[in-house]
Amino acid sequence: MKKVLLGLTMLAALMLLLVGCGEAPEKKEAPAPAPKAEAPAPEPAPAKGNDLEIFSWWAGDEGPALEALIEIYKEQNPGVNVINATVTGGSGVNAQAVLKTRMLGGEPPDSFQVHAGQELIGTWVKADRMEDLTPLFKEMGWMEVFPEGLIKLIGTEDGIWSVPVNIHRSNVMWYVPANLEKWGVEAPKTWDDFFAAADKLKGMGVTPLALAQNWTANHLWESVALAAMGADNWDALWAGKLPFDSAEGVKAWELFGKVLAYTNADASSLSWQQATDMVIDGRAAFNVMGDWAAGYMTTTKKLEPGTGYGWVASPGTGGSFMFLADSFGLPKGAPNRDAAVAWLKVLGSKEGSDAFNPLKGSISARTDSDLNKYNGYLQSAAADFGKDRVVGSLAHGVAANDTFKNGFASVMEMFMKSKNADAAAKACAQLAAKAGI
Ligand code: GAL
Repeated sequence: MKKVLLGLTMLAALMLLLVGCGEAPEKKEAPAPAPKAEAPAPEPAPAKGNDLEIFSWWAGDEGPALEALIEIYKEQNPGVNVINATVTGGSGVNAQAVLKTRMLGGEPPDSFQVHAGQELIGTWVKADRMEDLTPLFKEMGWMEVFPEGLIKLIGTEDGIWSVPVNIHRSNVMWYVPANLEKWGVEAPKTWDDFFAAADKLKGMGVTPLALAQNWTANHLWESVALAAMGADNWDALWAGKLPFDSAEGVKAWELFGKVLAYTNADASSLSWQQATDMVIDGRAAFNVMGDWAAGYMTTTKKLEPGTGYGWVASPGTGGSFMFLADSFGLPKGAPNRDAAVAWLKVLGSKEGSDAFNPLKGSISARTDSDLNKYNGYLQSAAADFGKDRVVGSLAHGVAANDTFKNGFASVMEMFMKSKNADAAAKACAQLAAKAGI
């Protein structure tokens, strides 16, 4: 955990991506206009009393970890009425649209969930909607406890813009050990291993790979692309040094197309939890999902890591840790600023972090967390984070700004229908140009 998160090349590249505010999100979401860089930040709204409104997409199964933080907050701030405003929808597909509408309408929440990296910097900081938290980081001693690379991802030369609450891993493949044994297959190390096992599984009437609604296809794509091109090329892609329509870029889409052939036909109607359920129930053998799936299987499904569920790096990505970090910021014009600052203090604290993360299925963003509080899966994730090559997630806001991310969702929809790797690679190249990559 002491290691610097990303290589300097990646960081330099990310800093170059300070362009493009969010565009209208995926088709199914409520339309939301993009924040305009030139639009003035709202005046502080009148305080609504002694409230604190926290905005996130951690509803339902993702709620308990957030509740643990709120518990601590309430103990420390007994007079404050906490409004836990959530908009359901994995990876924030719906929440991010609602947030944009509210921010543009001059109705910011007191604090909102945002991914470290370009989602924060390329959208909200670029639009001048956030307060600089550097004084808070100094006051709390956070410059010393958060990894330098992570602070760079949430910062610009003008300030530090959010408080990170975790580190999630994106490139994980999940399974149930007893089921694999029953079917006589092993967790694959490469996609070729997977294809061999998958043909056998299909013959037994088992779905080889469970997939859910559209954003989970983007999620799967980043792990497949990392396997197809390797970590150096992945970083080069976001640094603008490797074209998306290069041979490597096309190869990623080709491999993705092959993988898709082994997924369930009803994917678009399922939530990520329902796709995970397919694995738990033995209807599917594997699922590639971020380690919030470990949180779901542990906290909601009461399964034991190692026996109830197993994991391996997504095929072909062993030795790489594709990471993302959830964080919360302080929007300009927050109606209850003092209550929000107190909230951020809980988020960044060791106590808060070690209460939240074991339930969430993530490791602490702090370098001094108490690993005894974390289960077997999380201890292994912490060990991998300390030794693996760390690269940034596209699907969860690290690598690219909203212009690219939202456009990518449309490219994905097109690919799902056409399966045309060349066309998808070309569309990504055009998108990269538009997004300033
Ligand atoms: C990610 C987020 C995770 C988890 C996941 C599924 O974008 O970073 O914390 O909430 O979506 O909803």
